[in-house]
Amino acid sequence: MEKFKAVRGMKDLYGEELRKWKEIEKVCMETAELFGYEEIRTPIVEFSELFERSVGESTDIVEKEMYNFVDKKGRKLALRPEGTASIVRAYLERNLYQERKIARFYYYGPMFRYDRPQKGRYRQFYQFGIEILGGSHPFFDGESVYLLFQILKNLNIKNICFEINSIGCSECKRRFSSLLREYLEKYKNQLCSDCQRRMEKNILRVFDCKQERCREIIKESPKILDTLCDGCKNHFEKFKQYLEFSSIPYKINPHLVRGLDYYTKTVYEVFAEDEKNAIGGGGRYDELVEQLGGPKIPAVGFALGMERVSEIYRISERKKSSIYGIFLGEEAKKEGMKICEKLRKEGFVIKIDYEDRSLKNYLKIADREGEEWCIIMGEDEIKNNKVILKDMKSSQQYTLSYQNIVEEVKRIIKC
Ligand code: HAM
Repeated sequence: MEKFKAVRGMKDLYGEELRKWKEIEKVCMETAELFGYEEIRTPIVEFSELFERSVGESTDIVEKEMYNFVDKKGRKLALRPEGTASIVRAYLERNLYQERKIARFYYYGPMFRYDRPQKGRYRQFYQFGIEILGGSHPFFDGESVYLLFQILKNLNIKNICFEINSIGCSECKRRFSSLLREYLEKYKNQLCSDCQRRMEKNILRVFDCKQERCREIIKESPKILDTLCDGCKNHFEKFKQYLEFSSIPYKINPHLVRGLDYYTKTVYEVFAEDEKNAIGGGGRYDELVEQLGGPKIPAVGFALGMERVSEIYRISERKKSSIYGIFLGEEAKKEGMKICEKLRKEGFVIKIDYEDRSLKNYLKIADREGEEWCIIMGEDEIKNNKVILKDMKSSQQYTLSYQNIVEEVKRIIKC
């Protein structure tokens, strides 16, 4: 029978790569907790309508990339393509806005988008994200960027640069949309059929187009930053001030609009090292809570793509030495397990091979699998209350007594 394969665009995580991911996850979570963020976990499956009404019906994510399905009761459900909509849904459903003036959440988990798989683009990918709900001051936007910057710095990632823009409030967006339409009308025949449709339905989405010709036309289009109202301009100025006094490297990208409809005012993406794709992105979404049936509550957040960060993250040296337990015979296995328990309590990582093999065979396996240390016991050692510790690199052997085994192992392995 042919072997099963993982679904296209989805991957298994194990070994060194998973170890890397776990280090990244830990830094993300610990850094967010230092800023007072609380973890929130929401289901992977939500009603499709939640994303239609938040991310937007005419976005690529909802229109082309959502994993939709109908359950046995005929409900239209989706695998979440992102986390923000679910957080806002939970925030409203659980009345969390009544508990805290400013709510700060972080989340981590898989997201799903039926995009064309390529380097840095998967159909199941993981995001670490944060959302601040309840704060309208531009410094909240600044804090979200600062936190993302701190996470990347703590991960020792180099050449970090934020691209920022403001797409204004809904009034600014409306005004800009008609300006953009006026401009695009001149090129309508040269735009792809998707963009021609976008012009009618949701014109800002032309900025998501990946077609060469459309991109050329859009590059020369009017800039939203030039048309912002005073309130939005002021918000953007204060946001930039925050970045400057926090020494966060940034540049303005006047064409950045992001591929989700819920944004208002600040939008940003972050790039680092030689990763061509944005490793994270976010922005303000002051109207989403209300759009989803809640009160008027401003909000801002970001999400970081784990696959993209792990591409540029350098794993730290493994600190803990691992020991391979070789116990020859039933008696030795039982005694050996007791010793292992004592050593594990001290933080040593020990694996036991319970299979009956010859010593030579055990050592061959330990060597092949890169074990650094072996702890060996046979009949003789049991009789004399001794244990052998073998350094696999130098082949040096130490005979240790049962009584102070932990101290002896600690002294030799030095950890
Ligand atoms: P997004 O820009 O769609 O924003 O995704 C954020 C990050 O997720 C991207 O910068 C990228 O690193 C990663 N990502 C997205 N799609 C893929 C993919 N197909 N394969 C691998 N990685 C991917 C959001 O999702 C917003 N919810 C962020 C946000 C939070 N805005 C406010 N709060």
